[in-house]
Amino acid sequence: MKINANYLNLKQSYLFAHIAKKVAEFSAANPDAKIIKMGIGDVTRPLCSEVVSGLIEASEQMGKAETFKGYGPEQGYDFLKQSIADYYAGNGVQLELDEVFISDGAKSDLGNILDLFDADNTVLIPDPVYPVYVDTNIMAGRKVLFMNANESNGFLPLPDESVKADIIYICSPNNPTGAVYGKDALKKWVDYALKNAAVILFDSAYESFVTDAELPRSIYQIEGAKKCAIEFCSFSKTAGFTGTRCGYTIVPNALVSGEVSLNKLWLRRQTTKFNGVPYVVQYAAAKVFTKEGKAQINENLAYYRENAKIITDTLDKLGIWYTGGKHSPYVWLKCPNGMSSWEFFDFLLEKGNIVGTPGEGFGQNGEGFFRLTAFSTKENTLEAMERLTKILG
Ligand code: MLT
Repeated sequence: MKINANYLNLKQSYLFAHIAKKVAEFSAANPDAKIIKMGIGDVTRPLCSEVVSGLIEASEQMGKAETFKGYGPEQGYDFLKQSIADYYAGNGVQLELDEVFISDGAKSDLGNILDLFDADNTVLIPDPVYPVYVDTNIMAGRKVLFMNANESNGFLPLPDESVKADIIYICSPNNPTGAVYGKDALKKWVDYALKNAAVILFDSAYESFVTDAELPRSIYQIEGAKKCAIEFCSFSKTAGFTGTRCGYTIVPNALVSGEVSLNKLWLRRQTTKFNGVPYVVQYAAAKVFTKEGKAQINENLAYYRENAKIITDTLDKLGIWYTGGKHSPYVWLKCPNGMSSWEFFDFLLEKGNIVGTPGEGFGQNGEGFFRLTAFSTKENTLEAMERLTKILG
């Protein structure tokens, strides 16, 4: 047999696995250190009570012959797809139920979607960015071009007509920088994709952090996007499903390559390689959209927003440049005293026992920057910011 040699072109380990290993080593050597984790974007608020009741109700249904469910539809149950379609309608976007595909999270689908595209396509990925986009394309042996996101463009690169790409990744609100595209800027990307017969893979996993009604939460709020974009979203950050696993992908019926519908290709792929998300999880996910569920979720989002404010207020006091933290749980800061991002990682871990994510892990342009998340507890966020002030003061 021959292995897929493209894997040999990957970095030795996935960014967050590498960080977890470094932290475990530090903990073993310093057992008394009280480490505060603000690295991987994992939530700390528990599932809200509405979702928990949903998990219990659905589990009880599974234990009775009359309500037991075996294999479900691979693309998800209609009750959840309808709730998602209603949510989009609230943002002015009309979806057909067969355009919504339920998954076990955005990360899986962002990787799996590449099954639909020829290895010969040219891919355009912002730098810095969520490492999954790059790694999954390297695994497939695809040619990747990078677009520079940096301080001068506010970490929001715009299309360059001289660059020809077939598959374009956009994440807004952005991971890792927290920067958010406005409607006019996103329209430029949609126009570019339509003109070049390209597809945009739009990651909206952080849309629930947007508070300004003028900022788009979905790319389909932009005219023409249904003809050129696939959208990926997740309940992970919105409703604390990082360990429960549920997300969704929208593949519009209007998205075609010549005569071929990408929606039908994705349906074919999912019905062949996927057996759906557990009924219990989908039932609980639908509870996120009830009146009570929405109110409870909003409380959790407000909690994380307050943490983000605690972080940005501290950075303001310390005179450290940053972006994000406003419509995003991520704060992207410039490493102080000219430190490289891994130097700052070590400094924070050793002197403050705080874990963050070095910007370089998200791409070359992330060098000299660092990401902190607002997903910690409020107590730990306050404590971490006190420690930061002390070690930098
Ligand atoms: C992150 O920290 O960037 C995210 O938690 C990773 C993910 O959502 O998979």
